[in-house]
Amino acid sequence: MTRVLITGGAGYVGSVSAAAFLEAGHDVVVLDDLSTGHRGAVPDGALLREGSYTDRVELTRLLETERIEAILHCAARSLVGESIREPAKYFGENVAGGIGLLDAVRAAGIERLVFSSTAAVYGVPDATPIPEEAPLRPINPYGESKRAFESALAWYGRAYGLRSVSLRYFNVAGATVAHGEVHDPETHLVPNVLRAIDGGPPLTVFGDDYPTPDGTCIRDYIHVADLAEAHLLALDATAAGDPRTAEPLALNLGNGGGFSVREVLAAAEVATGRSVPHVTGPRRTGDPPVLVARATRAAEVLGWRPARPGLDEMLESAWAWRQTHPAGYRD
Ligand code: UFG
Repeated sequence: MTRVLITGGAGYVGSVSAAAFLEAGHDVVVLDDLSTGHRGAVPDGALLREGSYTDRVELTRLLETERIEAILHCAARSLVGESIREPAKYFGENVAGGIGLLDAVRAAGIERLVFSSTAAVYGVPDATPIPEEAPLRPINPYGESKRAFESALAWYGRAYGLRSVSLRYFNVAGATVAHGEVHDPETHLVPNVLRAIDGGPPLTVFGDDYPTPDGTCIRDYIHVADLAEAHLLALDATAAGDPRTAEPLALNLGNGGGFSVREVLAAAEVATGRSVPHVTGPRRTGDPPVLVARATRAAEVLGWRPARPGLDEMLESAWAWRQTHPAGYRD
């Protein structure tokens, strides 16, 4: 049992991870300023501290009073488009705030950290599937901010003994019974598809002239519950003396296979039994045609095997969650 602080634990990935950590017998403290997270997403049994990880004084106090032993750092600004318009937010919070967190963690003598990174650190890859050794050439401030934090983790690890795992998420989708995806504004494909099916605005397919078989972008979708499982295994790997984190570790989290936007629409129609009202629009700036993970390292190092690799399970679970949470979380 470990006392874990989950920053961003009221968000989509953070709340599913918080529930998984509790289920596995860990003590969970959630730190979230609720700017994009939801009070109602914090699972029963987790202690919610409302505030920002960028508040160094409060964070330092929290680490001490709650006797935190390890950090799962999920909190971040995470919209690619916004990051291009407002880079100050991304460098100020994700990078400068993140370094402040690292220093508070170091001052508290905590040596274990799991970080929510992203496939956006790769930019436009030379080849797919993308191995972890591929060059990191982010094409937006969001990806750059995550790359910068990963880099700080690596140097802090070597100098100060911090044991870390950076998890580079590909496209997270799906829901558990209690937790699902709700953002405002919503930019992600799966929730937008389900909203269109449910009587919302028709989905816009962003471009059908990409160099892919059906002309739409291909992504590697990963179930949020499988992602949470990877976080638990990554936490284990940061235990003192574990050779896997003697050097800072970075792992892709994906299934290693890709689906096009049109394939996601087709799968959604099967999962829901309804058609997806949609129109085709122009390309969205900054979308690489194909992003698929080479997903073998997480399997080799962590023993992680995604249990829900099918698009059908991601869409069915997300649809079920939408039915039971028509207005999202209550707050
Ligand atoms: N898409 C549409 N219509 C929509 C929304 C998305 O056609 O309304 C398309 C996008 O153009 C893209 C695909 O669906 O081709 C997936 O888009 P998402 O916005 O769901 O996800 P991204 O691949 O853009 O982004 C994800 C993460 C980011 C991360 C990025 C890595 O959400 O945080 O992968 O490149 F940065």
